Amino acid sequence: MAHFLIYRMFHCIVFDMPSKKYFIITFGCQMNESDSERLAAVLEQAGYIKALSIEKADIVAYNTCSVRQTAEDRVFGANKVIAALKKKNPRLTVMLTGCMVHYGKKELKKRLPKFDLFLDIKDIPKLPTILGINKKTLAKEYLDIRPSVESPFSAFVPISYGCNNYCSYCIVPLARGGEYSRPAKEIIAEVKNYIQKGYKEIWLLGQNVNSYGIKDKTYWANKRLGNKKPAIEKGRCSFSSLIKEIDKIPGLPAIATRRRQQAGDWWLRFTSPHPKDLSDELIQTLKNARHFAHYINLPMQAGDDTILKKMNRHYTARDYLSLIKKIRAAMPNVALSTDIIVGFPGETQREFQNTARVFAATNMDMAYISKYSPRPQTVAAKKYTDSVPLAEKKKRFDKLNAILKRSALAHNKRYLGKTMTILIDKADNGTISGKTATYKTVETSTAPMNAKKLLGTFVDVTITKVRDFSLEGIIKR
Ligand code: 5AD
Ligand code: SF4
Repeated sequence: MAHFLIYRMFHCIVFDMPSKKYFIITFGCQMNESDSERLAAVLEQAGYIKALSIEKADIVAYNTCSVRQTAEDRVFGANKVIAALKKKNPRLTVMLTGCMVHYGKKELKKRLPKFDLFLDIKDIPKLPTILGINKKTLAKEYLDIRPSVESPFSAFVPISYGCNNYCSYCIVPLARGGEYSRPAKEIIAEVKNYIQKGYKEIWLLGQNVNSYGIKDKTYWANKRLGNKKPAIEKGRCSFSSLIKEIDKIPGLPAIATRRRQQAGDWWLRFTSPHPKDLSDELIQTLKNARHFAHYINLPMQAGDDTILKKMNRHYTARDYLSLIKKIRAAMPNVALSTDIIVGFPGETQREFQNTARVFAATNMDMAYISKYSPRPQTVAAKKYTDSVPLAEKKKRFDKLNAILKRSALAHNKRYLGKTMTILIDKADNGTISGKTATYKTVETSTAPMNAKKLLGTFVDVTITKVRDFSLEGIIKR
């Protein structure tokens, strides 16, 4: 018997193959980052371990984004890199998942001949079988996979998948399909699990978070914003009720009792809501939710009604302005950001001026401005020509950026001299930085030996300097 045990140990050490390694490259939004964590979990269940660099990997996965051409170009340009890697390691497997799968395997293989595998993200539970590994993934549904979470203090929790809105420029409904809302019970259990492990920040994710659970996705078609209660799918609830339920989850007692963390022993965030589904009830819920961190990204896309109509957004510039007025009245310290597209097909100077004017009136803390990029098979690409030249798109981008710099700086100035609680999310030697509840980046410093210890903790910082897009402060002792 003893001989056998020694033999087994010797066999394991000497003859067993070293674990295979994986490397994931993620493009695009937080949903993709969250999907990559699920993909990592599947590969780890199949016996792979994370490679520290792409050169060390046995499988490389590109989790792709199709929202703009530039993101796709970076993947289409990967053939050379992959060819070089395969020369060094002929057994390397390269896979592609995420939004670009919508092109279809035939087209992708033609354009990415060095890739071996093209897999819909929803099919990743099948990956071990496809790779010929005799270990099944525990979850059948892709959203049921327990992710291998990158961060020990901040977690993404998808509440829905796909989108039914068909904004005319957007590839997401075509790439990800129609909206599916996860059962509320599952979501609440997942959040609870993170909080009980001591997580400090939860991001609820969805392409359109605030249409979560809604049965009839066109309920708003004949109504003005915020006034009608839609019917809800079985096992789901409204987004507002979901927030209320999640908000009841208490933080860990040891953390909650520390004075400076009383206001938020964990923070709840979400991205992204659609203005047409942002009800008055939701605004009240957010106002009263103890854990909601007062930051909302509310994509406007354009401030001109003709363009908004062509974009299929279902609100006017006035609707948008009155909505943010309501939000600010309910939560005076809320920070708002938005997404805007410049150079939509046919956007005239006048229409752009309207967007610039409305954008200035929104007085944003932050904005994510994109130059219109025609996406294959979208209504905008099929119906209109991409008529605004790139140089003009750049000019319009710069104009909005100049407006943004002014409003962002004005907001940031209000923080000067104030003490804010931040969640430290970066620690590099003595330089550390974190985010306020309002999602402002604050840079600060500490003794190098303390930096890592502060990662993932709430710290009070007095703001000493403000820039357009970040703040600087000193830790309060
Ligand atoms: N061109 C440019 N920007 C786009 N976005 C979505 N589709 C396009 C496109 N075709 C932007 C929108 C959206 C963000 C995620 O990306 O502003 O809110
Ligand atoms: Fe795209 Fe519009 Fe859906 Fe957002 S709401 S994912 S922009 S279709």
